[in-house]
Amino acid sequence: MAKASALSAWHQLSAHFEDMRHVHMRHLFAEDPDRFPRFTVQAGDLFLDYSKNRLTESTRNLLVSLAREAGVREKRDALFAGSRINVTEDRAVLHPALRHAPGEAYLVDGEDVTRDVDGELEKMAVFVDAVRQGQWTGYTGKPVHNVVNLGIGGSDLGPRMVCQALRPYGHERLKVHFVSNVDGTHLQTTLEGLDPETTLFIVASKSFTTQETLVNAASARRWLVDHYGDHAAVAHHFVALSTNTEAVREFGIATQNMFAFWDWVGGRYSLWSAIGLSIALFIGMERFHDLLHGAQRMDRHFRQAPLAGNMPVIMALLGIWYTDFFGAGTQAVLPYDQSLSLLPRYLQQLDMESNGKRVTVDGEVVEYSTGPIVWGEAGTDGQHAFYQLIHQGTHLVPCDFIAPARSHHGWDDHHQILLANFLAQPEALMVGRTVAEAQSQLEAQGLAAERAAELALHKTFPGNIPSNALIFEQLTPVTLGALIALYEHKVFVQGAIWNINSFDQMGVELGKQLAKTILPELTGAAPLQDHDASTTGLLTRLQRLRAS
Ligand code: F6P
Repeated sequence: MAKASALSAWHQLSAHFEDMRHVHMRHLFAEDPDRFPRFTVQAGDLFLDYSKNRLTESTRNLLVSLAREAGVREKRDALFAGSRINVTEDRAVLHPALRHAPGEAYLVDGEDVTRDVDGELEKMAVFVDAVRQGQWTGYTGKPVHNVVNLGIGGSDLGPRMVCQALRPYGHERLKVHFVSNVDGTHLQTTLEGLDPETTLFIVASKSFTTQETLVNAASARRWLVDHYGDHAAVAHHFVALSTNTEAVREFGIATQNMFAFWDWVGGRYSLWSAIGLSIALFIGMERFHDLLHGAQRMDRHFRQAPLAGNMPVIMALLGIWYTDFFGAGTQAVLPYDQSLSLLPRYLQQLDMESNGKRVTVDGEVVEYSTGPIVWGEAGTDGQHAFYQLIHQGTHLVPCDFIAPARSHHGWDDHHQILLANFLAQPEALMVGRTVAEAQSQLEAQGLAAERAAELALHKTFPGNIPSNALIFEQLTPVTLGALIALYEHKVFVQGAIWNINSFDQMGVELGKQLAKTILPELTGAAPLQDHDASTTGLLTRLQRLRAS
């Protein structure tokens, strides 16, 4: 498969960009009364309005041609067929199997993996029900009150985000905590006030070799054993989620307290697997299945909808339009729902660890931009922090606005104000305000013409800033499942077009390796190696400061 920039649709898009770069969306809306229905799409419970983007029918046709030429449909089918599309690690990428429909088969090397998936879900169900009903108890027979998930990256961000988002569905006795950072402050502050006798630790690590998680798990085990004075307590307070049975056993967790998953589940795609145990404990197994069901519905839409009416495909293509033709380096994610405040962080790993790549699957260095920097914040906080730059700064920032029509909290006056802001911001970003409009508004406020002219440019907004709006009735497990799967598939489609491997993460390795070399040098257990002058200077200065 060729590089994206070698495809004929790419060249046509480059030419089309010259026609579009100065076209203002104000004019596109003025010219076309049907622009809203023309550029909206429904997938299950999710409704996407992408009419506030810098595109016409011709743009969409060319973008869809790009997807077709890049083989998006064939690559999608290869993913669902269990092909080893993670070529550098020679692995299948089959997270959709984790949320399969009843009777549906997903094959890896000719074997249907859904039997294993269902078996593990049943094992989880037994455990989840026992903990929730207070029958699974700690060493002294007390029911669990606090669940502490020890994991990082994909073994943390997904479950953490989902547990926060679905808090209204949470069990009244259970509190769920997430410790990821190796900085001892994270674990210490989490354990403050927890009773070891009612605390359950989940050690979540696909590889079970991740330093941060193992160090946190060892300290948590020490905290527990120090309390009881008996190592036998560990079996009553620790479970593990992993693909590495041997390492789990070595840590001291018995196999019956381990929930397994498989190498064809990527870390950042794993919340649907045993890695979601904290979610299932918190919201119950039935609702965990609802989450899976929502994702499954999005999978079906992604597989069946034509490219031009396919929500993840459209979002992916718009992202490529801005990243590669308009030169936008970032993508803002702006949920107008406090319970989704961790979504931008979750999407940072999903998107940036997947598509932060510079080499194609064929081993060629790309000369176009790939994955954007993803960032964002829950509305309306962002409005009082960084929106200024989006409105009047010099960077083009495409935005995804996300909002439920109804909240769970029942204070509808708050929600109406939130929604008014959700509607106002994209409108302001799109419409902007011309110099003439600014000047006449200032004069209407009573300013002298000269002063109004001086201020007009400061009060001018270029507008024409693109945004998507995603809405749904209420944030439920089903809706959230669909929302997450939507972004998973968006990221996949972009990777397919850029012709990169979205499923490895080799860029994280170098820093990890160097940290392991430096640790014994820092502690004095090994002599200083040959580092650059800056690293050596900092290391020795830190050693002096620690000794003083
Ligand atoms: O950050 C690198 C990474 O390998 C992620 O891809 C993964 O989600 C995270 O570390 C944690 O890995 P594990 O689940 O194996 O502990």
